[in-house]
Amino acid sequence: MNYISSNKIENKRILLRCDFNVPVKNNKVVDDSKIIRSIDTIKLLLNNNNKVIILSHFGRIKSEDDKINNTLYPVYEELKKYIDIDFISDPFNLDDINNSNKLCFLVENTRYTDVPEKKESINDLELSKYWSQFADVFVIDAFASLHRAHSSTAGISNYLKTYFGLLVEEEINNLEPLINNNKHPFTVIMGGAKASDKIKIIEGILERCDKLILTGGILNTFLKVIGKSVGKSLVSDDEDVLESVKNILDKYENKIFFSNEFKINRNNEILTVLLDEIEDNDIIYDNLINNKIFTDSKIIFFNGTCGMYEDNNYKSGTQSLLKDLSHIESDVYIGGGDTVTAVNTLGFNNEFKYLSSGGGATLEYVAYGKLKALEYIKENGVI
Ligand code: 3PG
Repeated sequence: MNYISSNKIENKRILLRCDFNVPVKNNKVVDDSKIIRSIDTIKLLLNNNNKVIILSHFGRIKSEDDKINNTLYPVYEELKKYIDIDFISDPFNLDDINNSNKLCFLVENTRYTDVPEKKESINDLELSKYWSQFADVFVIDAFASLHRAHSSTAGISNYLKTYFGLLVEEEINNLEPLINNNKHPFTVIMGGAKASDKIKIIEGILERCDKLILTGGILNTFLKVIGKSVGKSLVSDDEDVLESVKNILDKYENKIFFSNEFKINRNNEILTVLLDEIEDNDIIYDNLINNKIFTDSKIIFFNGTCGMYEDNNYKSGTQSLLKDLSHIESDVYIGGGDTVTAVNTLGFNNEFKYLSSGGGATLEYVAYGKLKALEYIKENGVI
């Protein structure tokens, strides 16, 4: 891979793809860790006298209304603390860049181009070509987006010589022990809200790991399929998802583990109950993993929180898991935007050596050792 650390780029116009899909509340970035992790790349490129045009997606855009809640403007406000930068408010029109004497620009959410007609998400090459006119070189630092072969993560590589930034290099190097798969027992702890988001990669993960511990909302669907009551908790009703869960349970039953203790809301009362005590009207908001399941692991990968850690009533599952993981002798890798935000907000900022900026990307990489944008670039890109 062509990394900018070993290929000096100077006096060029650069399209830089970052992943600034960060948590925002009331128009303010609430966890800037992903932004901070690309600052070194931005500064290196600017220090070498380049003009840097930053592209990123934010959220998912399916309607005009989605645009209002998914602007990158709060990210621009954050970036201004570190660099002298301008904001380009229309990803379909970058003309202002040619008329400005600034050297760094953040372009509005690339996924705005998915409405009225999908462009970015289907890797529309006309769009990639349009963006490419404004630069001489393409640099990708968006490790967290590399599982998407979209116009801004992959298509541009057809038109511009393509390099990878410092964050991508760091991630690929850090994650190597998980990809090589030569440390065992290898345990994956997988949580997060929805089963449908992760079901496609669970099988890949199960092929590589020795134990998969399920937690968070995703666990509810598995419990439902094995005939347990999860009350009114969030579950997937999608027939395909339920069928996949059933097949996974049949094939990998011995590798799958989960918690038996749940924090629920029962008639506005918060209770801790065992699985068989869950009643029809209960809602599960958190679950607590017994650390005995994973203490024998040599290497652990944790992605997706155990519950609604943002709410004090339901943070103990994620908090006690992070506490156990911070004391364990195994190598611990943590990935995922939300999971890293939980690490930071629950007071574990300095406890873990390997925090990945990728959520879905890291999961897919761990599951299959491949990332769609990387594969696309290898095949089609100017490298
Ligand atoms: C992430 O937050 O995991 C990445 O930014 C990818 O987002 P996406 O799943 O909406 O493509």
